[in-house]
Amino acid sequence: MSHTWNTRAETGADIPAIRDIVRTAFPTPEEAALVDALRADPEAWIAGLSLVAVDDDDRPVGHALLTRCHIGDSPALCLAPVAVRPERQNSGAGTAAVRAAIIAAEGLGEHHVVVLGHPEYYPRFGFTRASAHGIGLTIDVPDEALMALTLDAAHPLPAGTVRYAAPFGI
Ligand SMILES: CC(C)(COP(=O)(O)OP(=O)(O)OC[C@H]1O[C@@H](n2cnc3c(N)ncnc32)[C@H](O)[C@@H]1OP(=O)(O)O)[C@@H](O)C(=O)NCCC(=O)NCCS
Repeated sequence: MSHTWNTRAETGADIPAIRDIVRTAFPTPEEAALVDALRADPEAWIAGLSLVAVDDDDRPVGHALLTRCHIGDSPALCLAPVAVRPERQNSGAGTAAVRAAIIAAEGLGEHHVVVLGHPEYYPRFGFTRASAHGIGLTIDVPDEALMALTLDAAHPLPAGTVRYAAPFGI
C-alpha cells in the first residue's frame, strides 16, 4: 500500500535505527557494517546525504545513503545502500528516501550519482545504464546493474571508471 512518507536527514539519534533497518533489510550484516564504516570515513561521508523516511512517530523506516565516489577524476556520489524495514517494504518508503537524497544532493550542488543495484528499481529516479555513458567498474557486474544519473543537464555524465570510497572494498 502506498503511503506519503516524511523524510529528513539522519541525526545522531537515528544511528541505531538505521543500523537496524539495514541489518534487517539485507540477508547479511555486511551492509549495516558498511554504513558505519562510511560514516567513520571523512573522505566518503557528506553531512546531510544520509536520508531517512520516517513514520508518523518520526521513527526511521527507510534509509538512503549517498557518499563520495569518483567517476574517473570527477567527484560523484554513490547511492548505497538503500534499505527499508521488511514489514514496510513496497509502501513507498524507499522511493521517498531516495528522492529526498537526490534533492539533498542537488541542494549541495552535486552533479552526478551512480548506483549498483536492481535495474528494475532505479530507472524511476532517472538513472540510466552507466555503460551507455562510458562509465564502468573495475569488477564484473551485470551491465544493467550499474546505473548513473546527472542532477543537472548542464553537467552531462563524464565517462570513466567508478572509484568507490575505501569501505566498499571495490
Ligand atoms: C529495494 C527497496 C529499497 C525498495 O524500497 P521499498 O520501499 O520497498 O520500495 P517502494 O515502495 O519505494 O517501491 C516499490 C517498487 O519497488 C520494487 N521493488 C521492491 N523491492 C525490489 C527488489 N528487491 N528488486 C527490484 N524491485 C523492487 C517493487 O516491485 C515496486 O515496483 P513498482 O512500483 O513498479 O510496483 C526495499 O524493498 C529493500 O530494502 N529491499 C531489501 C534491500 C535491498 O535490496 N536494497 C536495495 C539494494 S540495490
